[in-house]
Amino acid sequence: MRQRILGELCKNPGEYVSGKELAEKLGISRVAVWKHIENLKGEGYAILGVSGKGYCIEESYNVLLLDSIKAALSTARLDWKLHLFPELDSTNEMAKKLIREGQAAEGTVIISRQQSRGKGRRGRSWQAPLGGLWFSIILRPELALSEVVVLSLVFALAISRALESFRLFDPQIKWPNDVYINGKKVVGILLELSGELEQADYLVAGIGINVNIDRASLGRGVAKTATSLWEESGTYYQLGEVLLRVLQSIEEYYYEFLENGFEAIRKEYKSRCFHLGKMIKLDTPRGSLEGLNLDIDEQGNLIIDSGDSIECLTTGDVALLAEE
Ligand code: BTN
Repeated sequence: MRQRILGELCKNPGEYVSGKELAEKLGISRVAVWKHIENLKGEGYAILGVSGKGYCIEESYNVLLLDSIKAALSTARLDWKLHLFPELDSTNEMAKKLIREGQAAEGTVIISRQQSRGKGRRGRSWQAPLGGLWFSIILRPELALSEVVVLSLVFALAISRALESFRLFDPQIKWPNDVYINGKKVVGILLELSGELEQADYLVAGIGINVNIDRASLGRGVAKTATSLWEESGTYYQLGEVLLRVLQSIEEYYYEFLENGFEAIRKEYKSRCFHLGKMIKLDTPRGSLEGLNLDIDEQGNLIIDSGDSIECLTTGDVALLAEE
């Protein structure tokens, strides 16, 4: 019912709809409308209530209307199943809980409007306030664990293509799976896997996209290196439209990868890597390394010429070394 109320309010953003009209349209009492609105406000929706005028929603671009996204995905190859929560600690944790409980088919997507303990790569935390897209996709590809890892690169490419479709950005990739706009990070991906070496059981792809977020809300630690679609364009984006384009693009690249492997999209991935052919520093759990980034190989590894040797790296954080 709350999604239906949001749907009615979003039909005319910025305009007032009377409680009576909402009650009649939805077939519930005016008191029930009022209670739902109070709950929605508690979940962080910016709804104004003025006696004699009714209710009006602000920031309607931050409202996710699942029915319309589901309808747009209805002809998709993947059987998408979307679940929206007002707040979770982490969508990845919720996805893994559903997997443990045996309730997570391929294509399940856990979305949360905000996260209290968002998880980043390599044990870092991830700021996830209202206005962003925070979600985790559960997939069960018939692949070895070593092959599944490459999917994080595939998804970074898929998301950069989806963001490019808004025609205001030229998204680039920082290996393995960060999406950058104008030299700052706008998307992070956290892949969590489980299974046998020869056969992955599941993968949870946790995706964070800074959409309608101002720099101050991104957190002090990352304010210099992170950005949002809003900061880079001065435009607010409909979260639902961004999510839809991202899921459609992920689906397209996922099947391309399953059918033809990473080799089929490696060239495109590499064309978006802004550090390829440049001097970089790589921080890994085993220390750091400097050198020329020669390539990204068929397994998605980073190839560096350190001067003494050619190194093939499976994980780490890339930073560009200042050009002379
Ligand atoms: C990174 O460090 O770049 C990865 C960040 C991944 C953040 C997303 S937000 C949705 C999902 N749930 C989490 O707790 N983390 C991922």
